[in-house]
Amino acid sequence: MIEPPGPTARNIIERDCDVISSCLARPYPLVIEKAQGVTITDVEGKEYIDFVAGIAVMNTGYSNPAVSDAITAQLAKISHCGFPDFFAEPPVKLAEKLAQMTHYDRVFFCNSGTESVEAAIKLAMWKTRRQALIGFYGGFHGRTLGSLSLTSSKVRQKIHFPAIRTVHSHYAYCYRCPFNNEYPGCGIQCAAYIEDVIFKRELSPDDTAAIVVEPIQGEGGYIVPPPEFHKEVRRICDDHNVLMVADEIQAGCYRTGTFMAMENFGVRADIVCMAKAIGGGLPMGVMLSDSDIMDWPPGIHSNTFGGNLLASAASLATLEFMEKEELGNQAKDLGMYIVQRLEEMQAEYPGIGDVRGLGLMIGVEMVKPDGSIDPDIRDRIILEGYKEGIILLSCGDSVIRFSPPLVMTREEADEGLDRFEAALKRALL
Ligand SMILES: Cc1ncc(COP(=O)(O)O)c(C=O)c1O
Repeated sequence: MIEPPGPTARNIIERDCDVISSCLARPYPLVIEKAQGVTITDVEGKEYIDFVAGIAVMNTGYSNPAVSDAITAQLAKISHCGFPDFFAEPPVKLAEKLAQMTHYDRVFFCNSGTESVEAAIKLAMWKTRRQALIGFYGGFHGRTLGSLSLTSSKVRQKIHFPAIRTVHSHYAYCYRCPFNNEYPGCGIQCAAYIEDVIFKRELSPDDTAAIVVEPIQGEGGYIVPPPEFHKEVRRICDDHNVLMVADEIQAGCYRTGTFMAMENFGVRADIVCMAKAIGGGLPMGVMLSDSDIMDWPPGIHSNTFGGNLLASAASLATLEFMEKEELGNQAKDLGMYIVQRLEEMQAEYPGIGDVRGLGLMIGVEMVKPDGSIDPDIRDRIILEGYKEGIILLSCGDSVIRFSPPLVMTREEADEGLDRFEAALKRALL
């Protein structure tokens, strides 16, 4: 870790190191004091343009008055009521809104992404009476034991931990095709692998409860699959009576232009997991399905905080704001502009191997001259970016991710990208 930017930051980081669990991994010494819109201010008073949105959460921008006002109004009445045991209107209103926006008619509330994946796994197992899962290499679904079984991102996340029976297939990472094949002539071999290999040699479809897939791989490297990939996964699920679970936790909530990222691919999953941005900055997880699937009996699954009233109020205000302000269109337009500017940089800096993305979920893959991954240069650029006053994070083996609040203006994007280019130059010196 580089030197903190001042005495206040240093003091907090030293105290953090004394009391906070050692399992967290921070890339640079950013100590946040406050934030507004897309601007974060650290405890030394320095301002940063944010390309991370609190890990793809703050889609409506920091300190959004519509969300803050809804939280304050709910706080004045009651913050928590034990919704799983009693009734209250805010979570019902939120579920009605979600049903209207997604056309799924049943909602289960929890508090995080991993919990929504746990709920989806349990629902799929309960519905099918089967106990195995299929996930994808590079996928990230969370870190509790069920979701971790599906996660196949970094081996250090899995070391020493037991797993639900899960077989991983290949994601459509066309820039580094696992089969050295070329799209579109490949016949989507990565999806075909499920039937051709997994169902023949490793796991019977009759034991498979669900195939769990991210519409766009997030932690795996902001990988956008070609249009046929999810359609093929859907077909395989239908042909073998396996449930399809879409993990929309990072890609959902208009980040890619549509409310659910799967809409870009014209595919409807059986079960959908959402979290992160849906809470508008408060902890909120959602598992959606239809009543003919989510017909499990009372008591089979529950929690304490699901449907928390403050989180529900924040979430409803967030959904209404995103819809009213057409943040999906904004994500598409600004996303295309950012990709175009990054492609211009790619033409100038050969270290940029690939620029890809959908809406405001954009990845820049850094490569060595021989085209192999270059995690060192990636990490240096992120660090230089921090010094220049932009907030970036890594993903995949060698990728810089851009997932700013969807309210970012073109001027803010330009200023942030100018700083990114300065960081790029310094890192490549
Ligand atoms: C696609 C995806 N699924 C699940 C999760 C886990 O969410 P949480 O950290 O809220 O448990 C994440 C978190 O990054 C994610 O990106």
